[in-house]
Amino acid sequence: LSMPKINFIEHNGEQHTVEAASGDSIMQSAINNLIPGISADCGGECSCGTCHVIIEPTWIEKVGSPDKTEEAMLSLNPDRQPHSRLSCQIKVSDNIDGIIVHLPEFQY
Ligand code: FES
Repeated sequence: LSMPKINFIEHNGEQHTVEAASGDSIMQSAINNLIPGISADCGGECSCGTCHVIIEPTWIEKVGSPDKTEEAMLSLNPDRQPHSRLSCQIKVSDNIDGIIVHLPEFQY
């Protein structure tokens, strides 16, 4: 099983690199590794919005854009940015090995 790396950057600049299991979501990888700044209150059902991350621009093409349900959740977030995504909706795979995701200052 491959273990792609994910780089989480906190709002204060602190960086955490984790090895994630392919098939997990980025949210699950964050929770498993006790990354601060991801609450994931709904457990990955795309209904809380508290797993918000901002994708580093150079990675957005690989990650893709949100589907309708995610888009609806994101649109409620006052902190939304052009490359915002909900991390429970992004699957870890070799395709995103080395990805950089930024954590927002607050989870709404
Ligand atoms: Fe709730 Fe992602 S964990 S929307």
